[in-house]
Amino acid sequence: MNWLDVVSRIVHVGTAIVLVGGATFLRFVLLPAAERIEQSAHEALADSIREKWKRFVHLGIVLLLASGFYNYVRALPLHQGDSLYHALVGTKILAAFVVFFIASALVGRSPALESVRRHRKRWLAILLILAAIIVAISGFVKVRGASSPDRDIETSTPPVADLSETR
Ligand code: HEM
Repeated sequence: MNWLDVVSRIVHVGTAIVLVGGATFLRFVLLPAAERIEQSAHEALADSIREKWKRFVHLGIVLLLASGFYNYVRALPLHQGDSLYHALVGTKILAAFVVFFIASALVGRSPALESVRRHRKRWLAILLILAAIIVAISGFVKVRGASSPDRDIETSTPPVADLSETR
């Protein structure tokens, strides 16, 4: 057993739990509750949460990228020629980059992305839908396991002895 594989898996799944769980709490608990308070207090609360949540988002992106690419490099030998695996994991990585962009925009200060922050409820919902797709793809490829055409050819080719009998 490779201990780095174990550490990388724990870091990857643990970080995903914290970030997706935090975003779910923000969207479905905190935002609806904060809408009931007065506008200026609401904005002050939003600023304060943004400052604190930003650290989780930035560290989380670094950890997901590092552990994700490590997992990917380790998984590659098991999936040579497995086009479904590469299509699914490629889609997942692209979706993860979109999630990272939305999450960074929501905690950032760039004036160009102010409209994302103004419509935070909508963008958090989009982020969560993408995160659900990412988790579904990740779970599916994990349980499906390795399926390489090379392996299929190996197991479906009759042994040499059988071939000589059919001549
Ligand atoms: C929003 C971001 C992400 C979330 C929520 C997420 C979530 C997950 C989850 C839940 C698993 C399943 C782990 C298991 O069952 O043991 C997983 C596996 C994996 N993730 Fe991510 N991930 C994210 C980003 C990334 C990124 C950016 C990469 C690559 C750069 C990546 C690469 C992988 C790989 C290669 C696996 C293992 C797949 C396999 O079983 O072969 N992930 N991820």
